[in-house]
Amino acid sequence: MWQRVLQIFLIGVLFSSKINAQLPVIQLLDSSQNTISFRGISVVNEDICWVSGSKGTVGYTLDGGKNFTWMKVKGHENRDFRDVEAFDNQTAIIMAVDAPALILKTTDAGKNWRTVFFDTTKGMFLDALFFKGKKGWVIGDPINQRPYLAFTTNGGDSWQPCIYKDTLQDGEAFFASSGSNIGFTNFKNPLFVSGGKASRLLSFNNQQLLPIVQGENSTGANSISIYNKNILCIIGGDFSKPNQSNTNCLLTTNGGKTWQQPQTPPIGYKSAVIFVSKQKLIACGTTGVDISSDGGKNWQKISTLSFHTLQKSAKGNTVFLAGGRGKIAKLSW
Ligand SMILES: *[C@@H]1O[C@H](CO)[C@@H](O)[C@H](O)[C@H]1NC(C)=O
Ligand SMILES: *[C@@H]1O[C@H](CO)[C@@H](O)[C@H](O)[C@H]1NC(C)=O
Ligand SMILES: *[C@@H]1O[C@H](CO)[C@@H](O)[C@H](O)[C@H]1NC(C)=O
Ligand SMILES: *[C@@H]1O[C@H](CO)[C@@H](O)[C@H](O)[C@H]1NC(C)=O
Repeated sequence: MWQRVLQIFLIGVLFSSKINAQLPVIQLLDSSQNTISFRGISVVNEDICWVSGSKGTVGYTLDGGKNFTWMKVKGHENRDFRDVEAFDNQTAIIMAVDAPALILKTTDAGKNWRTVFFDTTKGMFLDALFFKGKKGWVIGDPINQRPYLAFTTNGGDSWQPCIYKDTLQDGEAFFASSGSNIGFTNFKNPLFVSGGKASRLLSFNNQQLLPIVQGENSTGANSISIYNKNILCIIGGDFSKPNQSNTNCLLTTNGGKTWQQPQTPPIGYKSAVIFVSKQKLIACGTTGVDISSDGGKNWQKISTLSFHTLQKSAKGNTVFLAGGRGKIAKLSW
């Protein structure tokens, strides 16, 4: 009898320690830029990661985060670079949101920056970049209620604007919280998510209201992660009520025909989500870092540290995170 109880107990201990052993641990890498808010991140591989943020600040590591090189982009020291896309250890583009909207490119690790996109249109506000190889899109807030989009096929050297034909609702726009509300599997038809008075999944041939929190200027989808054309996760919430978790996360396994809410949602407002694998997801926000090991159905908080954005290397399973007060971290899972 006791032997049996002990056996069950031991199995229990082994089982739970095995589960705990699989939980990724966040490793803080740098917080030297502690007056900067980082919202842009781009992971080239397990060693090379670039980040961008407020007060004209850009940085990169070439050794997996042991050492960062920091810079203030000359002539743009007061700009908020909300997104970055890095191509290698020398080449990156950075995006400043408005007045004027601006994209700069470096090919010498930030010694020099060249303007590759410049737009003074009133109301122009860029939100996010998304690239696969040299092909990429930038999304901007609606102008006359039409989403602004532009694309490049040469790594950001030149951009072609492309106004979306359908109009959005008054008060519906895109969050520039994490540089991750646009993505694609098919370059010609990107997917992007809006928020505010309404929150929608949009593409050039479809737009649908999402069953996610919406109706206020602080609510809606902040981020989309596309595992493949069928499997997507969308995350957000209400940044003015960060502790609310109701309808802050959506999953689909049929390309958006139907949406499911998680059984156990991530805790609170989240600004970025990413698939590490088909089953493993990580989300972050000012409310901490949460993970799912079952395709997004159940989430568990692994850290109370606040981060705005995260990204994973195309190969390997290292995720880098960046946020307020200069915080940069990584985790391997
Ligand atoms: C970190 O990078 C800086 C700037 O590139 C360089 O001067 C310094 O030697 C590096 N430190 C280490 C420990 O690699
Ligand atoms: C940058 O990458 C290139 C090509 O992989 C390599 O030859 C070069 O040494 C790297 N530079 C630095 C500073 O790591
Ligand atoms: C958001 O809505 C609140 C309350 O209605 C309002 O005070 C605030 O100015 C709005 N903010 C923006 C950016 O529209
Ligand atoms: C959210 O919850 C955290 C932790 O319980 C608390 O410190 C914070 O004040 C709450 N924020 C709001 C806006 O209620």
